[in-house]
Amino acid sequence: MQRGELVTIEQHILALQSLHPGATGEFTSLLYDIALATKVIAREVNRAGLGNILGWAGLENIQGEAVRKLDVLANETIIRMNEPTGRVCVMASEEAEEVIPAHPRGKYVLIFDPLDGSSNIDYNVSIGTIFAIYRRKSLSGVGILADCLQPGKDLLAAGYVVYGSSTMLVYSTGSGVFGFTLDPSVGEFLLSHSQVQMPAPQYYSVNHANLRRWTRGVQEYVRWLRGDGEGAPKLSERYIGSMVADFHRNLLAGGVFLYPGEVNKPQGKLRLLYEAAPLGFLAQQAGGRASTGLQDILSITPTSLHQRVPVFIGDRELVATAEAMIRQHDLARTS
Ligand code: AHG
Ligand code: MN
Ligand code: MN
Repeated sequence: MQRGELVTIEQHILALQSLHPGATGEFTSLLYDIALATKVIAREVNRAGLGNILGWAGLENIQGEAVRKLDVLANETIIRMNEPTGRVCVMASEEAEEVIPAHPRGKYVLIFDPLDGSSNIDYNVSIGTIFAIYRRKSLSGVGILADCLQPGKDLLAAGYVVYGSSTMLVYSTGSGVFGFTLDPSVGEFLLSHSQVQMPAPQYYSVNHANLRRWTRGVQEYVRWLRGDGEGAPKLSERYIGSMVADFHRNLLAGGVFLYPGEVNKPQGKLRLLYEAAPLGFLAQQAGGRASTGLQDILSITPTSLHQRVPVFIGDRELVATAEAMIRQHDLARTS
């Protein structure tokens, strides 16, 4: 990219399409539809404090979590802008208990977390949207649950938007990670980061309040991340509480984000389909990795829409050390 050259996300997606001779343009249009939906969400996020769309929606989602008005707005925006296009046969959302049937002619499956980091909405802290795109597996008709229960290694594309000091869309279709920054004056996402690769780690990111509930292996690992012990890294700690924002910092500055399981909640908090797998796909494309501590996240075939997995995601060596310490301290005990 020449200095000063402006590449919009539409131009970038079209250029990627030309790499796939058989492409019909439907996939390109789907990516464009998602980018458009996130521009609408960005507008609402940026003026959330002005309307009456902050605060609770007085609903509870399938996770038993109180739903914020902005969660509802983001969810409805993505559904409304993708359901009628005929490109998607089925959708799944954090905010919907069951799959969302779309169009019988749709070739693709869209899975998303409409607003990630909801606990931060009212305090002007960065939040995000996460999306995952698969090819349908069912042969015809409106898509079904089986179309959504695919492993991350089969993702066609994944990405997120982080609504922060600027709004950035980061995505990959399997040929590297690209970042686009929204120029609100023209309403375009402009290419700002090309072929992103995770640099040497600077940060680790975890909620230390859960320390007492972690297994011995995870406690040893976090102690190591903090600099204790043989070969410990020299890292600084940052924890925002929005996975997208924590992941985005580690993608650009290097590091590891972890949301481990707990003794009484071994699966942890984060969801496989619309948090761990799409971000794990991006991590892998950027030279990193995503693991549950026991297995690679992209290899897991989901058994339910909202299933949770422990997450260790980021720098390959830091993730490998987590797996080694968990094997050493946790598996040894149970075997
Ligand atoms: P969501 O707002 O979509 O439910 O996701 C919130 C998740 C994730 O974004 C973040 O990393 C994690 O919850 C923070 O959890 P804690 O507040 O328990 O640390
Ligand atoms: Mn989330
Ligand atoms: Mn969410």
